[in-house]
Amino acid sequence: MLFLDTIAGKKSSQTPIWIMRQAGRYLQEYRDVRATTSDFISFCLTPDKACEVTLQPIRRYDFDAAIIFSDILIVPWALNRDVHFITGEGPKCTPLGSDEVIDHKLITDFSSKITAVAEAVRLTRASLPEKTALIGFAGAPWTLMTYMVEGGSSKDYAATRNWLWGYQKQTDYLLEILVETISQSLISQANAGANALMIFDSWASAVPSDLRPWIVERPVQAIIERVRQAGITLPFICFPRGISADLPRFADAVDCQVLAIDQGVSPVFAAKSIRADMVLQGNLDPQALLFGGDVMKRAVDQIQEAFLTRQHIFNLGHGITPPTPIDHVAELVDYIRR
Ligand code: CP3
Repeated sequence: MLFLDTIAGKKSSQTPIWIMRQAGRYLQEYRDVRATTSDFISFCLTPDKACEVTLQPIRRYDFDAAIIFSDILIVPWALNRDVHFITGEGPKCTPLGSDEVIDHKLITDFSSKITAVAEAVRLTRASLPEKTALIGFAGAPWTLMTYMVEGGSSKDYAATRNWLWGYQKQTDYLLEILVETISQSLISQANAGANALMIFDSWASAVPSDLRPWIVERPVQAIIERVRQAGITLPFICFPRGISADLPRFADAVDCQVLAIDQGVSPVFAAKSIRADMVLQGNLDPQALLFGGDVMKRAVDQIQEAFLTRQHIFNLGHGITPPTPIDHVAELVDYIRR
């Protein structure tokens, strides 16, 4: 597998490529399968449908990696938070109170609520070409905490940041529960056949820089240690989105093999400043893919030039957006493999 070989440090003339949210609404075939189940959580927890939409972008573009179709909010859902998705508005749930206690039984029974995800991983691994890696994933504790505390998406994360200053004990308690349940989720995906594990900390930028060791770095490192204790040796990809100048510190504190970087970071800075054994993944602006053509190709050239002397996995800096023309994705893949 070019994807795993690149992570292992093997040199190749080819750069592996996959794109975040590669299974999704920019594909007509995704929208067709998605239309068969109105509730998004039920859709994620139907193994044959999750498997089918995971395979769709591989059939079309032969990416070097597939990412299992699921959602980071399956973990709070499995902790009995009333997570639901409202079309056009995104995810919603009842905000978690700072004095609320999460029933310990939910943690001990956690794995039994997410067996459908493991089943989807098993089905997908059995159907993928041998050369295509399968990525299992979870949200990071902080990003999941923002949805649980805010009750949905947020502009400024004010309620969750209040916890960091006013409710530090409660923050530690919640982070600990999330470290344990996220670890269980990743262990079950690994045991079902995933080839790499990715942790999405999409809202890491909302944590003040000086608090990131406590809120961003340590909980993610704790998950990696917990998964390693279970005997799992798969590579980890971490995506602490938006922390830019703090990436080198994150890389020193977290024992992952791949660091996914967003388009807010200069590839030249990343290549120079992040420990040399870290594989870097990213970081084309999704809007450049939306435009396609020479504008996109020039941006790709700049990224590839910056990472010439480093192990690199090509990706976007964040997920592909629904209006992106499918031809532009083909154009990008062809250009990377030219
Ligand atoms: O191809 C893939 O990337 C696999 C599937 C995947 C989804 N969500 C499917 C999805 C992955 C890896 C995620 C991760 C995820 N989910 C993140 C982290 C990555 C990131 O983008 O920063 C986050 C923050 C979420 C939470 C989430 N899920 C939101 C805010 C929304 C609503 C916004 C939107 O785009 O509609 C979702 C829903 C969701 N998850 C969709 C998909 C394809 C769209 C819903 C639909 O098809 O009806």
